[in-house]
Amino acid sequence: MDTGFLIDRAVAEIRAWEAGWGSYDRHPAVEVPADRAAEALKVFTDRLKDNYPFFHPRYAGQMLKPPHPAAVAAYVAAMLINPNNHALDGGPATGAMEKEVVRTLAVVFGFPEQHLGHLTSSGTIANLEALWVARSLKPGGVVAFSAEAHYTHARMAQVLGLETRVVPTDASGHMDPSAVERALQDGRVSTLVATAGTTGIGAVDPIADIVEVARRYEARLHVDAAYGGFFRLLAEAADPRLTPETRRNLLAVSEADSVVVDPHKHGLQPYGCGAVLFRDSSVGRFYRHDSPYTYFTSDELHLGEISLECSRAGASAAAFWLTTRLLPLRADEGLGPILGACLSAARTWHGLLAASEDLAPLRAPELDIVTYFPRVESARAAAIDQASRAVFEAAMTDPEDPVFLSVLRVPASRVTLNGRGVRRDRNDVQVLRSVLMKPEHQGYVPRLHRRIEAIARHVRREVA
Ligand SMILES: Cc1ncc(COP(=O)(O)O)c(C=O)c1O
Repeated sequence: MDTGFLIDRAVAEIRAWEAGWGSYDRHPAVEVPADRAAEALKVFTDRLKDNYPFFHPRYAGQMLKPPHPAAVAAYVAAMLINPNNHALDGGPATGAMEKEVVRTLAVVFGFPEQHLGHLTSSGTIANLEALWVARSLKPGGVVAFSAEAHYTHARMAQVLGLETRVVPTDASGHMDPSAVERALQDGRVSTLVATAGTTGIGAVDPIADIVEVARRYEARLHVDAAYGGFFRLLAEAADPRLTPETRRNLLAVSEADSVVVDPHKHGLQPYGCGAVLFRDSSVGRFYRHDSPYTYFTSDELHLGEISLECSRAGASAAAFWLTTRLLPLRADEGLGPILGACLSAARTWHGLLAASEDLAPLRAPELDIVTYFPRVESARAAAIDQASRAVFEAAMTDPEDPVFLSVLRVPASRVTLNGRGVRRDRNDVQVLRSVLMKPEHQGYVPRLHRRIEAIARHVRREVA
């Protein structure tokens, strides 16, 4: 699908709509001379090229990729109008679109029809709202989250003045249900946060077991599915690329009291699109506020009445709405096959890493994040750390054929080589990390693997 074609069509429609309102004179103060505009635009686009090629499969680093062309076209078209989804006064059409996409998200997560939810400008704000509602329900309660939860939970708990408790993870990066039980035993934890797809390695916490523990201790369960939430589509369809455990835990997200998902991660959206959903719509009461400036044009629910943020881009809702129209949130078409290709890419690469003489996998990927490190002569943590860093830097800066990766710090106790633990001459080790969130990675992974193998060999020769 050609982005230019979609943008041209969408912009032409909006311009025609604008023309229908009658002519008026644009103020000369907003006009800029064409030659100055062209010059500034050239400087601007040249500066933009100081970026990593997030669109290309040779970029296999962080959680980054451009939005789908449909999202771009819808965002641009809506942005020309610039609706504000805070109130229906500010964006009636995009407000309605937001309500529709949130209903679709509720279906994805198996939430009841009577849920409450809205889009946010990020996963951070969405999680903040979930913790804020939790605090409103039980002031003074403690929030518990895993050692591998996103740092946003500790930060937002600090913003809210909440006491926190960190639940240790096991060797595979999951919260251990018995550790959860120990954390909840004294009855002070009012909110337990589980992660469906950790930022580091994409681990899905044992939500199916944790939910039972949380219920027993009357703690609220919040699931941060900012990264991994959309994989629930494949879990519903019993996709064999997910292990039975991962599948069971993704399905159990429907038991949570609240859930966060980021359409700007795996939902093909540009930044500025998170979402929070609550099982019990009555939590809407905590958002109640009076505004002398807004909420005039309709008695229907205004999104600002159920969100903490005030102004929010209606264009975000528009982009997500059009994207899901063309690529539905389903396992068998639309988003499902895209996510499936990412899972396949990760599994293929894991197989190549396991058989490689130059690279070794850290662990099998649960979703689409692959972690690995160069095989080194001496099985020492410091040697692996150094070699990973050297491969990372060489790969990123190669002038001819670069590949873009990221690094992850893991405890040395988690690293094994040839089935044995490594000598722990340091506590943590940097390993290489690739988020394979573009479906194009499926075809490109063998090339990526060969290139990184070659860099690892080169680095080893340099060190020797
Ligand atoms: C699991 C998880 N939660 C929360 C966040 C924070 O989301 P955002 O960057 O949209 O604020 C991230 C970001 O990577 C994440 O992976």
